[in-house]
Amino acid sequence: MEFTRPRGTRDFLPSEMEKRRHVESLMRHTFDSFGYSEVATPTFENLELFTTKSGEEIKEHLYHFKDKGDRDLALRPELTAAVMRLYINELQVAPKPQKIFYIGNCFRYERPQSGRYREFWQVGAELIGSSRPEADAEVIALAMDTLNALKLKNCELHIGHIGILRGILEENGVKEDDQEQLMGIIDKGEEAELQAFLDDLGLSPDVQRTLNAILYLKGEKNEGVLIKAKKLLSGNPEALDALNNFRVVLDKLDAFGVEDYTINLGIARGLDYYTGTVFEIYAANLGAQKQICGGGTYSLVEVLGGKKTPTCGFAFGFDRVILALEKEGYGFEEGTKTRFFVMATGPELADDALKVARRLRGRFPAEADIMARKMGKALKYASNRGFSHAVILGEDEFKTGRLIIKDLRTGKQVEIGTNEVETFEP
Ligand code: HAM
Repeated sequence: MEFTRPRGTRDFLPSEMEKRRHVESLMRHTFDSFGYSEVATPTFENLELFTTKSGEEIKEHLYHFKDKGDRDLALRPELTAAVMRLYINELQVAPKPQKIFYIGNCFRYERPQSGRYREFWQVGAELIGSSRPEADAEVIALAMDTLNALKLKNCELHIGHIGILRGILEENGVKEDDQEQLMGIIDKGEEAELQAFLDDLGLSPDVQRTLNAILYLKGEKNEGVLIKAKKLLSGNPEALDALNNFRVVLDKLDAFGVEDYTINLGIARGLDYYTGTVFEIYAANLGAQKQICGGGTYSLVEVLGGKKTPTCGFAFGFDRVILALEKEGYGFEEGTKTRFFVMATGPELADDALKVARRLRGRFPAEADIMARKMGKALKYASNRGFSHAVILGEDEFKTGRLIIKDLRTGKQVEIGTNEVETFEP
């Protein structure tokens, strides 16, 4: 019987893991530079953490199960709810704003396709405790600066404001449940389903016209999108308030150095908790699953039993960021690291080879041959495995306190004293 991986999951070979760790460390570095601190939460949570805001329907998209103690649990589909639970449990009295980031695997029961998996990784940030426009602008800047540090070229930032849509719906008496459902339909981009749903809500043709116009309002910063929106929303104070807030957020973005984006008032986001500024980043070369990042202002702490607290944040789809970088031919610095492979010309020096490797390991990755290979075979193995240097213990040299170091990339070799192992610089 052959065992295969569960559908929608992947194995990562060493070369893949090296890339992932490299990208991860660059991302960590940018989060760090903005003053965000890392947290970790459990891979599974009580199912209720996810159904409380989103309702029972979300179970369709979750891996959930009962444990032996009859508790309902779920593998996390994202980390925002978990981080809010952690905040309520541990950090409510800490100074605000709290700036947090995380890197973790998530699980969604979705139809797998290129760039969409059932187990995937998110790298995300949450800014807790500020309702000021600077907070929204900062998280957007953090997302963009992270991608800039990775030198990802083909990506587009789209920013919208869900408060505008919600304002229109609110003023026309659309219940919250229906609002969430509508946002989900908008997010899916199903045109016919959207129009049918708007009809079902019993909204007047005028209101439907306004909603449709807002949903398709999109353009570069200086293309008058905000002026057009203002005209469409006249007589709709709640939506106008949201529009004003949006304008200030965009002004602040300038100060954070984010200047290149599309205003897109049709962004509704797939999750239920968003309330204000929302944004998505697309890598056009990824095809259907091109969204590499999503986030915005949301309201969740009070839903989960904490004190009402303003929050905003985002998450990158880490796997998609890697795919996008690969499509651009990103150089992952393969094989450039200094790594030593120590070998002996005869069995009598095998233990000395182990000892030399041990001495090198203080400064460099180093392995010794543990297969009693002949020189030629050992050198071939070291080259195939991508070692940068071979350390050769030959009987005659070793007796006189010498050993040979061969650069496997250039073929050049030098002889050093055995007492220089700790200080040798390749
Ligand atoms: P999300 O848009 O559902 O937002 O997910 C964030 C990112 O995760 C997406 O933009 C996408 O790149 C990636 N992603 C989602 N599903 C999959 C999948 N099946 N396979 C591969 N990648 C996937 C959230 O999860 C929010 N918690 C983000 C947030 C944080 N909002 C505020 N704070």
